[in-house]
Amino acid sequence: MKVIITDNYQESCRIAAEMIRDVIAEKPNAKLGLATGGTPVPIYKNLIKMNQQGEVDFASVHTVNLDEYIGLEGSHPQSYRYFMDTNLFDHININKANTYVAKGTGNPADNAAELEQKVFENGVPDLQLLGIGNNGHIAFNEAGNHLVAVSHIETLTESTIEANARFFDKKEDVPTTSITMGMRGILAAKMPLLVATGASKAEAIRGLLTNDEITTQNPSTFLKLHPQATVIIDKELAQLAGVQ
Ligand code: F6R
Repeated sequence: MKVIITDNYQESCRIAAEMIRDVIAEKPNAKLGLATGGTPVPIYKNLIKMNQQGEVDFASVHTVNLDEYIGLEGSHPQSYRYFMDTNLFDHININKANTYVAKGTGNPADNAAELEQKVFENGVPDLQLLGIGNNGHIAFNEAGNHLVAVSHIETLTESTIEANARFFDKKEDVPTTSITMGMRGILAAKMPLLVATGASKAEAIRGLLTNDEITTQNPSTFLKLHPQATVIIDKELAQLAGVQ
């Protein structure tokens, strides 16, 4: 596992954006796997700025997102489609027809199957951006006794619902189920790139970076199987997690 320890989260986000920029520079029609949540917002801000300054061109880039809440239309302000449009796609020169976020409404099993197809359609993602849940989840592959290989319907854990309640008016509004990419899709990416910050991620990052164990109780540990997996954390989190 390649680990980059930065001075602060701002630097982590700049480096992640530069890595994405470099992937596109090398392959203008690159396919990116993207994430939502709080962590990637400054990464997307960096990319928007780079795009405006002519440093990165998204005209031929394709994207596929990790997950979507079941029950929310793409026009719902808390849907991940809406998040991607407002935090990135509306501000860069990407063709929205080349962006895919799973559908939150309609038949969930069909929507999961469509996501799985999109992950592999025309080649796997060149880079898969990832955040990490407090419980070690990646995408919405929740910590528990088993993981699922393919894109599927996942019931969110109490810990995830609590963590995501900050984006909703009240906790009861957080959807309890989601469509998520499975472990196969994440590990198929040419380079999974996980960015994390904050004390709440310390235990999960400890499990990911301070030993060689793989456990379904911390799904991020499966990234240890990927030779190109890269993790960016700031020194504050590194210290809290006991990462040297
Ligand atoms: C989002 C996703 C989740 C988040 C994770 C961390 O698409 O798949 O795994 O990356 O819940 O969220 P934040 O960044 O809000 O701490």
